[in-house]
Amino acid sequence: MPVHLNTAGAGLMPDAVVDAMTDCLRGEARDGAYETELRHADTLDKGVYESLARVLDAPAEDLALFDSATRAWTSAVTALPLSARDRIWITPYEYAGNLILWTELRRRTGVRIEVVPLLPGGDLDVEWMRNSIREDVAVVSVPHVPSGCGIVHPVEEIGQLLAPWPCLYLVDACQSVGQLPVSVRDIGCDLLTGAGRKFLRGPRGTGFAYIGPRLRERAHPPFHDLHVADMTSGTTYQVHTEGSRRFEYAERSAAAVMGLDAALRYQLRRTESAVEPSGSPLRDLVRAAVEELPGIRLVDPGTHHASIVTFVCDHAPAPRLRDELAARGVNVWVAQGSHTPLFMRSEGVDHAVRVAPHHYNTPEDVAVFARELRAILA
Ligand SMILES: Cc1ncc(COP(=O)(O)O)c(C=O)c1O
Repeated sequence: MPVHLNTAGAGLMPDAVVDAMTDCLRGEARDGAYETELRHADTLDKGVYESLARVLDAPAEDLALFDSATRAWTSAVTALPLSARDRIWITPYEYAGNLILWTELRRRTGVRIEVVPLLPGGDLDVEWMRNSIREDVAVVSVPHVPSGCGIVHPVEEIGQLLAPWPCLYLVDACQSVGQLPVSVRDIGCDLLTGAGRKFLRGPRGTGFAYIGPRLRERAHPPFHDLHVADMTSGTTYQVHTEGSRRFEYAERSAAAVMGLDAALRYQLRRTESAVEPSGSPLRDLVRAAVEELPGIRLVDPGTHHASIVTFVCDHAPAPRLRDELAARGVNVWVAQGSHTPLFMRSEGVDHAVRVAPHHYNTPEDVAVFARELRAILA
């Protein structure tokens, strides 16, 4: 088994997840897919939302499931009524997929996109936000932890400063759910999105969103699918839920949702019993091991850090290091500068090595990583 230090890409699924998915798939092959879905209806229509509600500390009726974090994000954001009068605040750490959508919305509606400034060490200038917020800021978008490096943004503090204002507060929690405590209630956001496959250790092809009542009231989803809407005459239709499932599509992979439910319940058992160590001490070990090597530059802005360490090496491109480490049984990944383009471009980073340990890793794993990296660079 390789040493897996790529949880920021996708975490290793625990047996409970694989078992839930294979059981569902075998049921589909043996008994029929619709019949199997009916057998699992309690979990698929209720249980998984309740598990997610406990993980995110959010009401179950405000949650929706999607096939990726990007789909979750775009399904909510494209439903917002934006106009040329509106200002959108993003940060230099905005994920490229979200940024492409903002760029397209600017083209369509004329919204102004403004980038929150950073303090010299790379933290967001929260005081600038506090002093500059006005009525015409319609949306503030902050990633809890960005895609390319481990900085943790103070999403609760930002939520508090935005609370008196009419702007919608959107938090991309793709890299934080499963490794950091995430409480929608404490953050006070209107949208929070994530993926199942990363630190939650769920399957690929799963994403989710908390879509709060304030956002729902203002949003106009372009379509409602048949699990939430009926044609009431030849020309009229009615949506029969107030909740956030109205943003979903009806068709989904039952096996993937069963796997996500198992991952959420696994996460709840882990955090509620708190028997396993978190990944953060390992992050410090990774950082220390990398820091001592010659020709390495850490891309590690900010004061608070999650379990992600990113670095570039003067004399070895990141894709080569990823491939050579893989050949030696160590999984790391390449953080592409273009995926967090505003920040990474300002740092002159095209590609970096991203190392993301999780609770299943051990100090010995980090020692193996450090030994193999040293050998490659020798
Ligand atoms: C911060 C962040 N946001 C959004 C995404 C997009 O997630 P998905 O690939 O599930 O759409 C990623 C993916 O790595 C990410 O790191």
